[in-house]
Amino acid sequence: MKSRKITERVQWMGAIDWDRRLFDSLIPLPDGTSYNAYLVMGSDKIALIDTVDPAKVDILFEQLKEIPRIDYVISLHSEQDHSGSIPFVLDRYPDAQLICSSKARELLLEHLSIQEERIRVVEEGEKISLGDLSLTFLYTPWVHWPETMVAFLPEEKILFTCDLFGSHLATSDLYAGSDPYVCEAAKRYYAEIMMPFRTIVQKNLDKISDLDYEVIAPSHGPIYDKPDYILESYRDWVSERVSNKVVIPYISMHGSTAKMVDHLVSALVERDIKVERFELSTTDLGKLAMALVDAATIVIGTPTVHFGPHPIVFSITQLANALRPKARYAGIIGSYGWGTKAVEQISGLIPNLKVDVLGTVMCKGYPREEDLRSLEELADAIKEKHSTLQEGN
Ligand code: FEO
Repeated sequence: MKSRKITERVQWMGAIDWDRRLFDSLIPLPDGTSYNAYLVMGSDKIALIDTVDPAKVDILFEQLKEIPRIDYVISLHSEQDHSGSIPFVLDRYPDAQLICSSKARELLLEHLSIQEERIRVVEEGEKISLGDLSLTFLYTPWVHWPETMVAFLPEEKILFTCDLFGSHLATSDLYAGSDPYVCEAAKRYYAEIMMPFRTIVQKNLDKISDLDYEVIAPSHGPIYDKPDYILESYRDWVSERVSNKVVIPYISMHGSTAKMVDHLVSALVERDIKVERFELSTTDLGKLAMALVDAATIVIGTPTVHFGPHPIVFSITQLANALRPKARYAGIIGSYGWGTKAVEQISGLIPNLKVDVLGTVMCKGYPREEDLRSLEELADAIKEKHSTLQEGN
């Protein structure tokens, strides 16, 4: 794809990765992704903000064919999907300086082959002039790595945010408009990438709130020409508010755990509680992560394998712990043949979750009446806690 005009002095560049289906060998990409770079052409200097995944560098070079000079290559984030092509761009433009945050300097030197003397560090709030345009840099750490920053172009009222507000979405649309699907893709992105740093993201939102911008240009997915929608969504996702919702990730081997999950789902629905259940051998991890953004309660369901939880449950529980969702309550249910340590082992896997465990129900063999009664009691306990949740809590 060719570069696309945003304003007379700013162009979208980059690559749309229509066919990529996995990121970091972990994160599903059902809709592909894009790596957005931006060319900012001032009267004196030309800046390229971010680059593309190195697998797509040829596309970027084709877009740069008519650009004889770049003065500044700006790295807002050192992860290779944005920075991986920087060495090639610096080779092509030998007079260009690489601009980055102080923390990024070390990361870029460690991850890429860059000559140290090509790097210029900008401090928090520093402004560089491009002549009739200027870029001001604000440190916004942990969106997604510790070195991340945003760049503000006041003359065009554009805020460049790299991963922040991004969405893994391959689309021919340059702008998001008010498309709810872009917001859903951005929620998936937030859940997978930003949720572990929720309180820091909150501070970063405060930091950018006074800037006078009309457009947000992230480095994944469409550009926000109506940014209120994504800003309000982010405010909600990072807030303390949780929903009257239970998320149940589970797996079953011979049907016992599935029967318990069926019974619990029914008991919760009877108590007017929303449920999202995820069978872990087939589930899309991104959907599970999205469900965790605002769930008040997580109930993990597992059979016992060699006295511990099923290995897939083990792995997903570790992942959920790393994502640090804001759930307040938890439960563990499941089954065993002759003995189990599944509850103890799962409890040990979730130190980051500040949850009140409302109950555990492990049945021997197939669930009997008393097991189903215990599930009803767990549903009662969840109902009681959820009834204390206030709107906007
Ligand atoms: Fe899109 Fe954290 O890289």
